[in-house]
Amino acid sequence: MMNYKAPRGTHDILGINALGMSFLELKAKEIFKKRGFEEVRTPIFEDAALFMRSIGNTTDIVEKEMYVFEDRKGRKLALRPEGTASLVRSFIENRMDILMPASKFFYTGEMFRYERPQAGRYRQFHQIGAEFFGNSSPAADAEIIILAQDLLSSIGINGVNIHINSLGCQKCRPLFRETLVKYFSSVQNLCTDCVRRLEKNPLRLLDCKIDSCKFTNAPQMLNYLCVSCKDNFNTVQTLLKSANCNYAVDGTLVRGLDYYTRIVFEIRSKDVGSQDALAAGGRYDNLVKELGGQDTPAVGFALGSQRVLLAAEKQGLFNSFKISEKIFVAIADQELFNEAFSFAVKIARNGLKDNKDISVFGPKNTESLTNQLKFADKIKASKVVVFTKNEFENGKLLVKNMRDRTQAECFIYEV
Ligand code: HAM
Repeated sequence: MMNYKAPRGTHDILGINALGMSFLELKAKEIFKKRGFEEVRTPIFEDAALFMRSIGNTTDIVEKEMYVFEDRKGRKLALRPEGTASLVRSFIENRMDILMPASKFFYTGEMFRYERPQAGRYRQFHQIGAEFFGNSSPAADAEIIILAQDLLSSIGINGVNIHINSLGCQKCRPLFRETLVKYFSSVQNLCTDCVRRLEKNPLRLLDCKIDSCKFTNAPQMLNYLCVSCKDNFNTVQTLLKSANCNYAVDGTLVRGLDYYTRIVFEIRSKDVGSQDALAAGGRYDNLVKELGGQDTPAVGFALGSQRVLLAAEKQGLFNSFKISEKIFVAIADQELFNEAFSFAVKIARNGLKDNKDISVFGPKNTESLTNQLKFADKIKASKVVVFTKNEFENGKLLVKNMRDRTQAECFIYEV
């Protein structure tokens, strides 16, 4: 018995889930390409201070969930809990804030958060994300929300709910902040986190996992927006409507990261239990400047691949991930192994005449035909191509259809 298990909150991605993950990434890459987003791959770990500064020192992610470690030279590093901070770091470090400030990027990869594991919440999970730099127009916000929705529908996910809210800007948020502090000071028995965060970052209380149920009457940012933020929020909605994108305004939506300004959104599904946000994002107009770059507005989103796959499974979409037909090449006579091998290589390279999208297995040169057919059944091959001496001498093969158990002879050049 092996004594090792995948660490708590992590899991191996196997079989149909691995296929689903690749399928989702493939579809996402197609869509990103069509809309002008370029891929960026950033390191899996970064200077821990980057995340503290971007996500915010008083957020749950930074206070409780980061995997922080020191390397051999005593540098404080962290496994990335999300992609936005890394993308902004890369954007500035590669001087893109000066050279190409209006640019669109996407990323896919593992993120790490020390959270309490449950269905849809893991300590290592995958995100697919996009960041749109250098465009402060509400059209960029609408483009990002529509992009996130299109990614989900590209693999067939339906029945999602888009929640949007505005968190205001540096001009209107201070008054909201003040009002919040007054309100929270009148609420009894706040948890220790809320008491500690009340002065430093009262917006965080709205997102508290323990106390938020006590805050049903809390003031909402929407009632404190300045004229320009109100206009901005209205225009985003007009654009969403013009693209037939259904959404609901949700004044209670706050995000677990501090960098947001103005529009924030979440796309939720009823099919995945309590961890129902499949994708989320928003605008963060101050972050590039705060991290030392040129003043550059930005907006983006990320989806959680595992959660999207949970929804896909619930909605019966897994069958559509089985993209290739399995073909097994078998030999009835051992001396035909070389011919069968070169045939298997040929169809793996070129596909069959009636189907280019195949996975090829075999031949095996040590087993009886019966065992080879058993193996073909085990891997759920739909067809077995059998090399037999009699047929091969006439330039022919036997093709067994494993679904209806029929078989037919055909010329090699016909397959
Ligand atoms: P987030 O809401 O923290 O935002 O994460 C985005 C998505 O990642 C969530 O909606 C969820 O689907 C997935 N996710 C988050 N935590 C977990 C977990 N522990 N297990 C499984 N899935 C999870 C961000 O990360 C922002 N960087 C999004 C963004 C991009 N905002 C602007 N640009």
